[in-house]
Amino acid sequence: MSVTSKSASVVTKLRRQVKGGSRSKLRRSAFLCLLTLSVLATGSAIADIYLPNLFPFFNATGLSATYSSTGRVDLSGPFFQSLGTNGRTCGTCHAPSDGFGLSAADARFKYIISRGKDPLFSQVDGSTCPTGEVDSSLLVNNGLFRIGLAVPPNATDPSPAQYTITAVQDPYGCALTVNAQGQQIASVYRRPLPTTNLGFLSAVMFDGRESLTNPLNNKQTFAANLNADLTQQAIDATLGHAQANEAPTPAQLSQIVKFEFSLNSAQLFDFAAGDLSKRVNGGPRFLSAQSYYPGINDSLGADPQGKPFTPNVFTLYKFFENSRNPQQASIARGEEIFNTQPLTISDVPGLTTGNQQIAGTCTTCHDTFNVGNHSFSLPLDIGNSHSATYETDANILAALNQLQTPRVPVFELVCTQGPLAGNTYYTSDPGKALISGQCSDIGRGKGLILRGLAARAPYFHNGAAANLTEVVKFYNQRFQMELTHDQMRDLVNFLQTL
Ligand code: HEC
Ligand code: HEC
Repeated sequence: MSVTSKSASVVTKLRRQVKGGSRSKLRRSAFLCLLTLSVLATGSAIADIYLPNLFPFFNATGLSATYSSTGRVDLSGPFFQSLGTNGRTCGTCHAPSDGFGLSAADARFKYIISRGKDPLFSQVDGSTCPTGEVDSSLLVNNGLFRIGLAVPPNATDPSPAQYTITAVQDPYGCALTVNAQGQQIASVYRRPLPTTNLGFLSAVMFDGRESLTNPLNNKQTFAANLNADLTQQAIDATLGHAQANEAPTPAQLSQIVKFEFSLNSAQLFDFAAGDLSKRVNGGPRFLSAQSYYPGINDSLGADPQGKPFTPNVFTLYKFFENSRNPQQASIARGEEIFNTQPLTISDVPGLTTGNQQIAGTCTTCHDTFNVGNHSFSLPLDIGNSHSATYETDANILAALNQLQTPRVPVFELVCTQGPLAGNTYYTSDPGKALISGQCSDIGRGKGLILRGLAARAPYFHNGAAANLTEVVKFYNQRFQMELTHDQMRDLVNFLQTL
């Protein structure tokens, strides 16, 4: 069966409709696209199904698309096959329609049309707890999956944790459990990270746990290490999320990783500003040609090629600067704000120490050119997983009040060993500390890639920002930006074109 000629004509039709600006028709086509894709993503191997390059998918503010270096996005490979026992594929949680992430809106849509029976909602991690009553609320409302992580010591790091951990808020009753080996398992709730634009990564997984053995910190070893990390990650995802009894075959693994590597995704079209790849440099095709090496443009001055840091990280929309289209002009101003608006950065473990304040910009942390992740693996705690109930930093508290933090467990970590002994921390996600056991890693996670945002709300790894306006309001308080209402709107308009 082949749907390619059909999908090609859908694209042509959509392009015509976009030109004509017929929104209700656009919405109807969007619905059809979604439906087709959810059917495709749940099916197992059907030969020769693919999306042409730049096949557009609708979201609230425009169209997103993916560009594959192989010329098309193959939907029939093992990434879209059920390799486990619960019917899930990688594409169940990493959907082409959602920039290879998963929007909470799509999770809701699937919940409604399948009455909660779609494999997406498998109890293993699609429910708030792996046993007991099935409760899909965190997945349906916030796009969150339960990640059960063993508290160190564990097999890879036999040294004991520097902290003791207890749950001070346990809304579902499985915040901390004990497994058959007597190990403590902490439940944290995280968003799927997109499986596209992976050639720009400096760490795999929010806490970097899949790139500890083969770090992504050196140009010479980057390609081989990323390949090894993604291969191991695909094994773990199959055994975990898909509940397989055995790992995929080496041939399947290599196909999955090759597939992931070939992809670049971004917003392609903005309803108000028009084509984002005409005369300007938005969209996934330009992104696929963006050069990168670990540490590029490092904001702390450690670019391995010795080049000085420039805050002008995004240079996509200069041409929009003097546009008469108000949305285009707003996007250009938003890009400028992202690059240059002053931030007072304080209380960010991993970056600042004690009462230190850094005069920075958004690009102090989002420093990879035209991608926005942190080019060095430097996990940080910006405070979005803290609990308002226990927060003592006034800026973090004000910032948390801009978010709609999901109802998740809150942990108390009391440090008993190491340089931070005597300190107590409260967080809903201990981040890298659950891997390393170190108190200095509590709450720290990687800086995320900022492309394809419009396709996959909500934001932050814990889904605490329902939309990009909340993200911007969070930062405005967190780092005392003092943005005007218009500046906030410009910044949001820019972020939604990425
Ligand atoms: C049930 C949903 C689900 C399924 C199925 C799933 N993933 Fe994921 N994936 C996630 C979540 C959640 C994360 C983030 C976890 C974290 O950061 O701790 C993630 C993260 C990733 C990442 C890391 C990206 C980055 O930026 O670090 C890769 C790569 C990935 N998944 C690939 C796969 C592959 C390959 C498969 C199929 C074998 C798969 N996933 C199946 C939910 C899923
Ligand atoms: C001190 C470092 C730092 C600064 C400054 C910073 N960020 Fe972030 N940003 C991060 C980290 C770390 C994350 C990941 C946090 C998480 O997911 O929990 C993140 C996540 C995000 C996300 C969510 C991406 C996603 O996929 O969910 C957006 C959007 C974002 N930042 C935009 C901005 C903007 C806009 C600014 C400036 C106003 C900014 N950031 C300033 C470190 C920073």
